[in-house]
Amino acid sequence: MKILLLGSGGREHALAWKMSQSEKLTKLFIAPGNAGTSQMGENVNINPNDFEAVKSFALDNTIDMIVVGPEEPLVRGIKDFVLNDPQIAHIPVIGPGKEGARLEGSKEYAKAFMQRHDIPTAGYLSVTNDNIEEGIAFLKTLKAPYVLKADGLAAGKGVLILDDLQEAETELKAMLAGKFGDAGNTVVIEEFLKGIELSVFVLTDGHGYVVFPEAKDYKRIGEGDTGLNTGGMGAISPVPFAGDEFMKKVHDRVVVPTVEGLAKDNIPYKGFVFIGLMNIDGDPFVIEYNVRMGDPETEVVIPRIKSDLVDLFEAVAAGNLRTKTLDIDERSATTVMLVSGGYPEAYEKGKVISGLDLITNGLVFHAGTAQKDEEVVTNGGRVIALTSYGATKEEALKQSFENAGKINYAGKYFRSDIGFDL
Ligand code: AMP
Ligand code: GLY
Repeated sequence: MKILLLGSGGREHALAWKMSQSEKLTKLFIAPGNAGTSQMGENVNINPNDFEAVKSFALDNTIDMIVVGPEEPLVRGIKDFVLNDPQIAHIPVIGPGKEGARLEGSKEYAKAFMQRHDIPTAGYLSVTNDNIEEGIAFLKTLKAPYVLKADGLAAGKGVLILDDLQEAETELKAMLAGKFGDAGNTVVIEEFLKGIELSVFVLTDGHGYVVFPEAKDYKRIGEGDTGLNTGGMGAISPVPFAGDEFMKKVHDRVVVPTVEGLAKDNIPYKGFVFIGLMNIDGDPFVIEYNVRMGDPETEVVIPRIKSDLVDLFEAVAAGNLRTKTLDIDERSATTVMLVSGGYPEAYEKGKVISGLDLITNGLVFHAGTAQKDEEVVTNGGRVIALTSYGATKEEALKQSFENAGKINYAGKYFRSDIGFDL
């Protein structure tokens, strides 16, 4: 089977690493990929949002399956594009169609979905310029802190958590006036949920599903979870506070109603559902849905899957995922992300990376790297994810940090406290 994987981050390197181990795979292409994915298959210089280019490539190379890493092509409707074109309609796409992708593409849509299917989540009100007074009145019924979310995709920046009511009113008006562009034409005001976060990943064909191991990521740039939000500075799986009892609640109250809700709403969905959860005194509440795997969560979740991922994707495409079970590695996996100096604000690219060959007892997943002649250079804010296994998370983390010390480039930074709160 020839597979085209779309994307270029650590998530895609981890997916490519796993798929390349499958006997079912004959050839893997990654568009556009990075220096790491080029060792797992062939990188092709195609923008995943250029659907016509994806189509020509798929036809010219007789691609059998397209696996979509990031959300943007999904939210823009790559699945529908493929299905509606008779020349390529036969190629299965792992990832939901445009309607299903609204679970990530629209916060309001996701909240309405959860409400309709009795999935536990924070109370909310959806506000536009037409009911701004109602929005302000709703804010006054809430206790601080106040949570404001731009409805649309805003590159991870569309969520504000504010301590002061006056400031929340001002920000609500600014968002509706275009602070986040069209993404903020609708704003979701939410009740603040106080608890500890984790994520659960479900692969579904729209009816059957398998639940991948849970993970916790570390989003802030600074130690002790301080400073600006990033794409993710590290991750751990399994999550110690997600015991059997809690995970059973997640399964019964969240996973099952989510998959059944998609079916009830007649939304065909073949792909990943990433469920961001808050554990509040042992009960799960959904914070958000994403319609793809998480990054860097993939770098710890996928290494813990012993089953053949290509075989699972085939079952998703065929609609017989019900017949599959997952074989999971009981060990802990941790990942520590090396980033560029200055990230998540301005940073420089093109720094030569050394020491990659010194990592012999761990997995090196490239996030933002590029091959430049004989050298691998930095090519993004998040550069390399260092994943390790251990009998315990402490053992795995020790290895990840040790490996983080072996790789060097100008401006290297990483958080040395991943897992500090567990
Ligand atoms: P989202 O983009 O919806 O995942 O929100 C970004 C982050 O904001 C989440 O990962 C949480 O840490 C935080 N957050 C979002 N919604 C809430 C909420 N209702 N209560 C508390 N924290 C929240
Ligand atoms: N690590 C969070 C995300 O992928 O959205």
